Amino acid sequence: MIELDLEKIKRDVAEVFERYGRDPARMIEILQDLQDIYHWLPKELLKEVSRQTGVPLTRVYHMATFFKAFSLKPRGKYVIQVCTGTACHVKGAYMVLDQLKNVLGIDVGETTDDLMFTLETVNCVGACALAPVVVINDYYHGYVTPGKVESLIKEYREQQ
Ligand code: FES
Repeated sequence: MIELDLEKIKRDVAEVFERYGRDPARMIEILQDLQDIYHWLPKELLKEVSRQTGVPLTRVYHMATFFKAFSLKPRGKYVIQVCTGTACHVKGAYMVLDQLKNVLGIDVGETTDDLMFTLETVNCVGACALAPVVVINDYYHGYVTPGKVESLIKEYREQQ
């Protein structure tokens, strides 16, 4: 269960408004900056934006759902994309994926409760020579084996 710090949300929203003012015309920039902080837009955050701007919540929601760049589903600080294209599939991508599911305790499309990791699959990322490939944020990891998964995750956990 994801727990959100409502006081932090209030502070972060107020801080973003200091940059843009409470100008509804700058709502996209406001939501973009907030998503940069949280990696997604929780309901509590949209409510706070609505409360502080006076823009109806339905309108704030409308903007947040209209643009694909915004996510209303939890997203981790690190988005792990396992390539399941043909070359990676042949070299064991699904075994790597299964091990990632085990280590993280989540399924594809889900995010860990500590909001550190989101697990996704993608098709060929254009690095077939390195198969199987796992992309974490923008960093490509090649020749990943199930045995390397635990230390890879540990490495990212320690980076925070
Ligand atoms: S199939 Fe995975 S990088 Fe091409």
